[in-house]
Amino acid sequence: MKDSFGREINYLRISLTDRCNLRCEYCMPEKGVKKLNHSDILSFEELYELTRIFVELGISKIRLTGGEPLVRLGVIDFISKISKLEGVKEVAMTSNGVLLKKYAQDLKDAGLNRINISLDTLNEKSYQKITRGGSINDVLQGIKAAKEVGLTPIKINTVLIGGFNEDEIPSLVDLTIDNNVDVRFIELMPIGESAQYDLNKFIPNTKVLEKVKGLEKVHNEDISSPAAYYKFPNAKGRVGLINPISCKFCSNCNRIRLSSTGKLKSCLHSNREIDLKESLNNGQDIKEVIKKAILTKEEEHHLEDKKYISRNMNQIGG
Ligand code: GTP
Ligand code: 5AD
Ligand code: SF4
Repeated sequence: MKDSFGREINYLRISLTDRCNLRCEYCMPEKGVKKLNHSDILSFEELYELTRIFVELGISKIRLTGGEPLVRLGVIDFISKISKLEGVKEVAMTSNGVLLKKYAQDLKDAGLNRINISLDTLNEKSYQKITRGGSINDVLQGIKAAKEVGLTPIKINTVLIGGFNEDEIPSLVDLTIDNNVDVRFIELMPIGESAQYDLNKFIPNTKVLEKVKGLEKVHNEDISSPAAYYKFPNAKGRVGLINPISCKFCSNCNRIRLSSTGKLKSCLHSNREIDLKESLNNGQDIKEVIKKAILTKEEEHHLEDKKYISRNMNQIGG
């Protein structure tokens, strides 16, 4: 369905859990997060029921996020159910890739179409530092497995962090020459943990085009994608720039979000949350609640006025 600004809302991002097997500095507190009670998170039955209603309202693309979606047991079964819903054209996932080697084939068999993998550095030690303990080998093996089973096209998400991975921009871009993967650089957004970061860590994505010469702009048929794409002539993959700070893409926004606790977020950068779990428990007409939320979806974010939300990224899933 359309929102009040005429935007077709057809993309639902479901955060399956706020838990994660990594502790990225810009995303999660070092000590991790307080474990939620079982009764506070949506069960898979509730998730399925809500997804079914969202699909009836016109959602055709679903992305599973986290925290890390692969740490929630039952995810494979859930994918096989939602991928069979009439009207669902694509089920995708955003993952840190650590558990991907183990699950790639099962995910593919369940009906997952493709996967985006977070990787901020190619250096073993830097990876261990930024993720507070992760092993880059797990992710590299995960990417390989995803390719082998056909969870493609694969996109790698790299958050640009001043003083951390700027020097790696050329080697990350070079991955697109011989590999059929897109590497997308994301401007660090001031959310939760990263809102307290030193300002020098926020660097604009124009840095990529300054550091790497010879990239050519490519037309992207998906106008609601937050990424602008570039490519080296003859390269297999593309280079994407996601610039939520320096270049707003709100006017083409097609997405809404559901948190693992059942909160519907109509904008990533708004504090407004609609409690669908409560609505389910109260026997309210969920379809009407969702319709109203879509009709009142925010026009755009106001990060430029330093209007930051307090939630950490692991609770929203990006
Ligand atoms: P594709 O379907 O492959 O285009 O993926 P995607 O870009 O929709 O999803 P992904 O989870 O890979 O997100 C990449 C980055 O874009 C993450 O850092 C997200 O936080 C950011 N992002 C996604 N949606 C939005 C949005 O609506 N607003 C803002 N500001 N950033 C977003
Ligand atoms: N700013 C930008 N991107 C972020 N991500 C997590 N936190 C932030 C942030 N503060 C990215 C992750 C993942 C995607 C879902 O969001 O690295 O790739
Ligand atoms: Fe986990 Fe992703 Fe957050 Fe890193 S950015 S701690 S991988 S949810």
